Amino acid sequence: MREKTYHSITFGCQMNVRDSQWLERVLTARGFSEAALEDAQVVVINTCSVREKPEQKVVSTLGRIRQATGGNPRVLVCVTGCVAQQLGETLFTKERQVRLVAGSDGIAAAPQAIERLLEEHDLHISLLDFTAHYVEREAAPAPDGRGGPVAYVNIMQGCDNFCAYCIVPFTRGRQKSRATAAILEECRTALQEGAREITLLGQNVNAFGRDKSGDGTSFASLLRQVAALPGLARLRYVTAHPKDMGPEDVAAFAELPQLCPRLHLPMQAGSDAVLARMRRRYDSTAFLRLVEELRKARPDLALSTDIIVGFPGESEQDFQETLRMVRACGFMSSFSFCYSDRPGARAALFPDKVPSQMAQDRLLRLQALQDALSAQWLNARVGTTTTLLMEGTSPRDRQGDAVSWQGRDPYGTPVHVPLCAGADHTGQLVRVCITQAKKHSLVGRQLEEP
Ligand code: SAH
Ligand code: SF4
Ligand code: F3S
Repeated sequence: MREKTYHSITFGCQMNVRDSQWLERVLTARGFSEAALEDAQVVVINTCSVREKPEQKVVSTLGRIRQATGGNPRVLVCVTGCVAQQLGETLFTKERQVRLVAGSDGIAAAPQAIERLLEEHDLHISLLDFTAHYVEREAAPAPDGRGGPVAYVNIMQGCDNFCAYCIVPFTRGRQKSRATAAILEECRTALQEGAREITLLGQNVNAFGRDKSGDGTSFASLLRQVAALPGLARLRYVTAHPKDMGPEDVAAFAELPQLCPRLHLPMQAGSDAVLARMRRRYDSTAFLRLVEELRKARPDLALSTDIIVGFPGESEQDFQETLRMVRACGFMSSFSFCYSDRPGARAALFPDKVPSQMAQDRLLRLQALQDALSAQWLNARVGTTTTLLMEGTSPRDRQGDAVSWQGRDPYGTPVHVPLCAGADHTGQLVRVCITQAKKHSLVGRQLEEP
């Protein structure tokens, strides 16, 4: 074990990825450096409990840490994020090395707690309270002033929707919008550090401002203000909620050229009966109408989605409705999951649970349909020209004096392209012609400068 080192392990959504990055940067500013798991003095696991499997992963990860560190009691293990919020201090009894648990709002105070725990070896700290308003955290600039071409900025915490299957309102608390000035400030810093693309993050971004922490700024207005920041080439957001996506949010796709033509719009199910029991508060007709309006505003808009199969009471007929909607919307990609009971969520108490073998079978059928749609979508891109934001070199590939680089197109699809060796193309916008479609990515050729 080396003093003043950390190792961090992250599960879950983009908000967790962002939280981990923040904590890593703050620890670095306080003199810590990153180390391999075997050598680290502080190990942080940032956890997710949205389905059962991710939660089991935490327990197995604790075992892995114990093995790698030989159970050394001087190694400080911190559990943060949604499982920490959910299981709280019981985590102290699961593994002796765990001496900090910090939930969604508590993580803001984790850096101080870590320093204290390194001084006081018998102490345990739990940071599990929810705050009434959005907690501003200490600023965490990129260590060398270079943050990479893509930045993620939180605009809210929590969720008020209580979809019947979902644990997030319990683990992340009520919706709390962040102050617009603080969001813009963080965006400006990211742009100064070299970001060209910003993704705004929240569990239900379209409802931004509609809570008691809101400062009167609507989501559409926030989008316009961020899009106007000098240096920004691309703007994205995640996650949208169909019921809260108003006409102004739709119009933003027509008005703001910086807003990328890609939207992740979770549908969850196609059957109206299932959507009602999920408490999603839209039906298939409203969803299709929204898709139509979005495509009217931005004809090249590509949609992706989240789908749950095997929700309690889902019949074969209901599932067929999901397949029908997936076809009708022509999603470029989707994340799909078998329903899993979560403690506290209403659906855990619903009757008519779908047998897991049946849910698994539906999942495979859905994924086969999606694979075909995704392939169709990627193949249709071959021969088109587009602009990539370059992110880094692709591992291993070198062809003569060209190196294979990876960038993303406006739809967020990874594209590989050979570029001249010896130059750092990170953060550049490069015009390419798409030459080939792979399973989840594309290959391109750089177009000559005009
Ligand atoms: N706030 C976002 C994402 C929430 S969690 C939204 O409203 O869509 C990410 C995805 O996990 C959800 O969209 C849903 O498809 C899936 N999910 C959430 N709870 C689940 C559960 N109990 N079982 C299976 N999938 C679940
Ligand atoms: Fe969960 Fe629904 Fe909130 Fe998304 S909108 S986080 S699915 S409760
Ligand atoms: Fe998981 Fe919590 Fe995100 S449950 S999906 S890490 S909000």
